[in-house]
Amino acid sequence: MAKRIFIVFCLLFAVFAFCGADCYAIKETIVPTPIKAEDILRIKENGSKADIPVLGFPELDEKTKSMAEDICKKSDTPVTVDCDVFLSGRLISVLLREKTSGSEKYQSVVCDAKNGHIVKLSELVSESSPDEICAFAEGDGDFIVTLHGIGLCGEKTVKVIPLAQAALKYDVTDKNALFPWEKAIAFTFDDGPSKYTDTILDFLDKSGAKATFFILGSHVEANEARISRMKALGCELGCHGFSHTDMRKQSADAVKFEVEKTSELIYEACGEYPTVFRAPYGEFSASTKGIKLHRIKWSVDTLDWKSRNKQKVVDAILSCAKDGDIVLLHDIFGTSADAFCEAASELMKSGYRLVTVSELAGLSGKEPDMKTVYYKRK
Ligand code: NI
Repeated sequence: MAKRIFIVFCLLFAVFAFCGADCYAIKETIVPTPIKAEDILRIKENGSKADIPVLGFPELDEKTKSMAEDICKKSDTPVTVDCDVFLSGRLISVLLREKTSGSEKYQSVVCDAKNGHIVKLSELVSESSPDEICAFAEGDGDFIVTLHGIGLCGEKTVKVIPLAQAALKYDVTDKNALFPWEKAIAFTFDDGPSKYTDTILDFLDKSGAKATFFILGSHVEANEARISRMKALGCELGCHGFSHTDMRKQSADAVKFEVEKTSELIYEACGEYPTVFRAPYGEFSASTKGIKLHRIKWSVDTLDWKSRNKQKVVDAILSCAKDGDIVLLHDIFGTSADAFCEAASELMKSGYRLVTVSELAGLSGKEPDMKTVYYKRK
């Protein structure tokens, strides 16, 4: 989803004034830009009105809308519903503030930005959390998650309990979560590793960016440390076969042997099996059908192997690459490694996140689909 989303990050002094010692002001933001007018849905009903944010997550938007409509319909006296949006790691919380003369009530909806699904408190916290949270989770009470804690929504108050006190079932601060509104590109490197891979890994190390390496089995030996470093940097390891033979010309058994042998070598080098597969030349054929790994091709071919010219490769990347693309490079050429560093830093400056192929939405958070050949973000 390419839609750009802007989010208001309001300071809820009104809410936190009730919190006594837990009072705080939220200063950190992930998406600091204020929401745009067209991203607000205005509901008017029964003399009541509600302004709710449209955030681009269908489940969340639909739920927020129906809750706001319900509040407006059920109220005997006109009410105003305002919303505040909180981002905490991978969780987006929308707090609906129902205001009538003299009082304020809270309802909320929380969504996991990584998969777009609504999250219940019972799905987030385990039973070893403090009793107060457990009781709330059991009763399906409304809650929000902010950078500072879990806010339990009651009449007139939102009581905030620090996240550290709750026993969470999963890591809400997951830095790998890719938000649907983010511009993301997956760089892929074939045929390595080689000594030039170090230039790429140094860049990734410094910048926090990620990439995917389609490793050639015959290149594992003497490059074990490089493969371990890829893993340590959070990069994705892919299998590119062993001998770089065109797999269309091989039997299914020969392909299976190549892939299994390479996978074992990668495992021996770093303790992790590859998760994705790219056939040499990107030629997936009948003989590659039995391979139980995600098949990844590319949407931007830099022809780096042909030009071996840094500037041409930089230009090829910057003139073609857009949100959701998978870019093909080879880490066996110094020109490709240098070009990657230059183009990648330009892309990052213009707001792109460099992710692994599985982090590109459409690959992550879904049941593995071994039949599809992925060219780009679905
Ligand atoms: Ni190749």
